[in-house]
Order: sequence, then C-alpha cells, then structure tokens
Amino acid sequence: MRFKDKIALVTGGSRGIGKAIAQRLISEGAVVWIGDINEEMLQATSKEIGTKPVLMNVTDEAQVKEAVDKILSEDGKIDLLVNNAGITKDKLLMRMKKEDWDAVINVNLTGAFLVTKAVIPHMIRKRQGAIVNIASVIGEMGNAGQANYAASKGGLIAFTKAVAKEVAGRNVRVNAVAPGFILTPMTEALPEKVKEEYFKLIPMKRFAKPEEVASVVVFLLSEDASYITGEVIRVNGGLYT
Ligand SMILES: NC(=O)c1ccc[n+]([C@@H]2O[C@H](COP(=O)([O-])OP(=O)(O)OC[C@H]3O[C@@H](n4cnc5c(N)ncnc54)[C@H](O)[C@@H]3O)[C@@H](O)[C@H]2O)c1
Repeated sequence: MRFKDKIALVTGGSRGIGKAIAQRLISEGAVVWIGDINEEMLQATSKEIGTKPVLMNVTDEAQVKEAVDKILSEDGKIDLLVNNAGITKDKLLMRMKKEDWDAVINVNLTGAFLVTKAVIPHMIRKRQGAIVNIASVIGEMGNAGQANYAASKGGLIAFTKAVAKEVAGRNVRVNAVAPGFILTPMTEALPEKVKEEYFKLIPMKRFAKPEEVASVVVFLLSEDASYITGEVIRVNGGLYT
C-alpha cells in the first residue's frame, strides 16, 4: 500500500491511460480524484472504479481553481498530481489551421501549466508532493502530421524539467513519462493495415496496454522514486531510445 493516506488528482482520468493510472493508485491505497471535461464519462468511470469526480476543463483557469479548491476543502491536501489530459488534431502543417494549433497547445501544455500552478503552492506548503506529466514519444522524435502535438509534448517535457528545478528544494518532485503507442480507444480504432505499419517500427512489435504506462507513473509518484526529479521515462517498446 504505497499510497495509503495519499490524495491524488489525475486529469483526463475518465478513460484510457488516465483511467488505468487512477485504478492503479486506488489499488495501492490512494484516494483518487479524476478531473475531466466530459461529465458523463467522469460520473460513469467514478462509479465503476471508485474515484471521486470533479468537472474540470484544464484550459479554464477559473474552473481549475474551483476544482482544486473543492478537493482541498473535502480532503485537505493533494499529494500526487498526474497531468494526463490530452488531445490530438492531426494535420500536415500546410493544412493546419491556427485553431488546430491553439486547441492542442491549450489542452496539452497550457492545461498542465494551469493545473500545476493551482496545485503546487499546496504541495510546497506541506513540503511534499509528486507530479507526473504525460508527454509522448512524439514530443521527442516528431511525426509528420503532428506538428502541434509534437510541440505541445516537447514543451511539456521542457516544462517538467524547469518546474522540477524550481521546487526540488521543497521536496516536490516533477517528472514526465513519454509513452509510445498505447492501446486506447484512439489507437484501437486504427485499421489493421496501419497498425501493421506501426508494428514494423516498434522493436517489441506491439502496442502497450495502458497498465504498462500506469505502472511507471505510479513508480515515479511513489517513494521508490524519492531521488528522481526532472526525468523523462520512455515507455515505447524501443521505438525511440
Ligand atoms: N494513446 C496513446 O497512444 C498515447 C501515446 C502517447 C501519449 N499519450 C498521452 O496520454 C494521455 C492520455 O491519452 P489517452 O490515449 O488515454 O487519451 P483519451 O482520449 O483516451 O483520454 C483523454 C482524456 O482527457 C480528457 N480531456 C480532453 N480534453 C480535456 C480538457 N480540456 N480538460 C480535461 N480533460 C480533458 C478526455 O475527456 C479523456 O477522458 C494524453 O496526454 C495523450 O497525449 C497517449
């Protein structure tokens, strides 16, 4: 029970990787809040896995503050934060509209900034906390058709390293996990032929299960990683090393 008496917030935790992280944290004793923009999924997932739901659009500063205040008033603290909410709007640069660029940067990068900024003063006050940002292999290696997504995730890695340096002296650790291709509703919908093409590029010849990302995230959140901060751990089956 590595997370007994710990209070966690996982953004975008209603499905996919975030849901797997929430489940894993619960199984190790944490009280877990999931913050999500999709109210229906938020309620259904919370009922299913035993999380506490809080409606939160990570791009809306006032709503983020309100959500964090709700958690603090109910549970008194936030020990663990996972900035997982993320979207894609893939298009080749020549066809990418400014709206596509702004939407992805706003959720994936500015969203993590807003939630971190709202939570971190409380961690600093307690002299204790751990944050994991969910980046992507694309943030390090790039990908045609994903200039907005690659920039957001590369930015999130740089953000992780900068904030880690700011708060390390207050016993707050900030790390990133960079997953490769993970089996979620998004990737499950890919045609078999496209998947086969991806498998050729991945030395392990398969996509990962969300649980294989979750286990690394909870390691970084736990005291087992007590001397790790500002780090990026790749979980990509050897795709990019
Ligand atoms: N699936 C993959 O292969 C993969 C690979 C690398 C990185 N990632 C990253 O992992 C994270 C989770 O991905 P996933 O595949 O589980 O995605 P998903 O689409 O299954 O889940 C994303 C969740 O975020 C929520 N969300 C979206 N916009 C939001 C907002 N503005 N505010 C609050 N919540 C919002 C959604 O409602 C959803 O519950 C993302 O950051 C993604 O970029 C995914």
